[in-house]
Amino acid sequence: MTEQPQIYTERLILRRPRLRDAPRIAALLNNFEVTKNLARVPYPYTINMAVDWLVRQRKEWSPDTITFAVCDPRQGLMGFCGMHREGRDAEIGYWLGEPFWGKGYMTEAAAAVIDWYFTMSSANRMVSGVFYFNAASLAIQEKLGFVRTGIGKRICLAQNTDIDHIETELTRDAFYRALEKL
Ligand SMILES: CC(C)(COP(=O)(O)OP(=O)(O)OC[C@H]1O[C@@H](n2cnc3c(N)ncnc32)[C@H](O)[C@@H]1OP(=O)(O)O)[C@@H](O)C(=O)NCCC(=O)NCCS
Repeated sequence: MTEQPQIYTERLILRRPRLRDAPRIAALLNNFEVTKNLARVPYPYTINMAVDWLVRQRKEWSPDTITFAVCDPRQGLMGFCGMHREGRDAEIGYWLGEPFWGKGYMTEAAAAVIDWYFTMSSANRMVSGVFYFNAASLAIQEKLGFVRTGIGKRICLAQNTDIDHIETELTRDAFYRALEKL
């Protein structure tokens, strides 16, 4: 298995997660404003949880099972963007530490990861979604060509309850049409 690739964008480096990222991840994720939007991240969030998560990140990667640390060359690690399998589909998920919100970083990172995914795989679609209150994440997905497909329930560990979740999907064609307009 070759080493996980790095992706370079105009402002960002997307790279393999490292064990030494744990303190930084804990510092950024131990924030309810971040974790309340995520399905599987508890709150409070500790360095030990970050270490456990990093150990579980497999050394082997595939286009639909991969995690990228989203880094700015000067500010360092700011968050994550990755693909995992959700049933038959690949699902994209992402988060950024609160100090880095509102600067277009995740639109840039997610667009690069999706472009990489569609280049590496023969799939013609992927899925994602947002908790019903997450307007910023929905805005990113709509800019990238995702459309809503329904509403389901998903557990939110930080809020310790099931929450309405807007389900979305993105086709290869819709993504490349959206990319031209970004
Ligand atoms: C969601 C998140 C990734 C956004 O990252 P970001 O880098 O700030 O996003 P961007 O700046 O690339 O784009 C956000 C878009 O949402 C828009 N937006 C922000 N807040 C909004 C709101 N309350 N209502 C509507 N749109 C909103 C922004 O205007 C921007 O769109 P624009 O570029 O057309 O102006 C970040 O806030 C985050 O990590 N939140 C916590 C974790 C999370 O929600 N993860 C996603 C789970 S589905």
